[in-house]
Amino acid sequence: MMPQQDDESAIKERIAPIGKVRLAGDSAQSGSGSQTAAAGPRSGQQVYDKFCAACHTPGVLNAPRINNAEDWEPRLAQGMETVFQHAWEGYNAMPAKGTCGDCSKEEIQAAIDYMVSDI
Ligand code: HEC
Repeated sequence: MMPQQDDESAIKERIAPIGKVRLAGDSAQSGSGSQTAAAGPRSGQQVYDKFCAACHTPGVLNAPRINNAEDWEPRLAQGMETVFQHAWEGYNAMPAKGTCGDCSKEEIQAAIDYMVSDI
């Protein structure tokens, strides 16, 4: 019996540091969790490059071209609310959310802002 007990406590001693290592790992995990939060919404450029550029760089089907004042001025004249609404809900050949189905309103607005940032 006695030798067995010694073995058990020896095992517990060996396990203890492992528990500590796990705790350290846990705090590292919550660190990566906050990294995910920090990644947050995609930038206007990220959304634009991935979802909008195919149409809005060449101006497919009369899509207003990025940073082209001539293309954008009559649209912006409607007011940003209407412009946003058209991007969010779709408008003629402009697909709803510009095909970015999981985009938030914030991300779509950021992509629009990016498209007219250098007019
Ligand atoms: C399949 C091509 C296509 C894609 C992809 C696309 N657009 Fe468009 N977009 C268009 C076309 C075409 C128009 C012009 C529609 C019209 O005026 O008849 C347009 C117009 C717009 C307008 C102007 C709306 C207005 O009121 O005049 C905005 C803003 C816009 N797009 C935003 C976006 C954003 C943001 C993305 C990406 C998330 C995107 N578009 C992706 C084709 C596209």
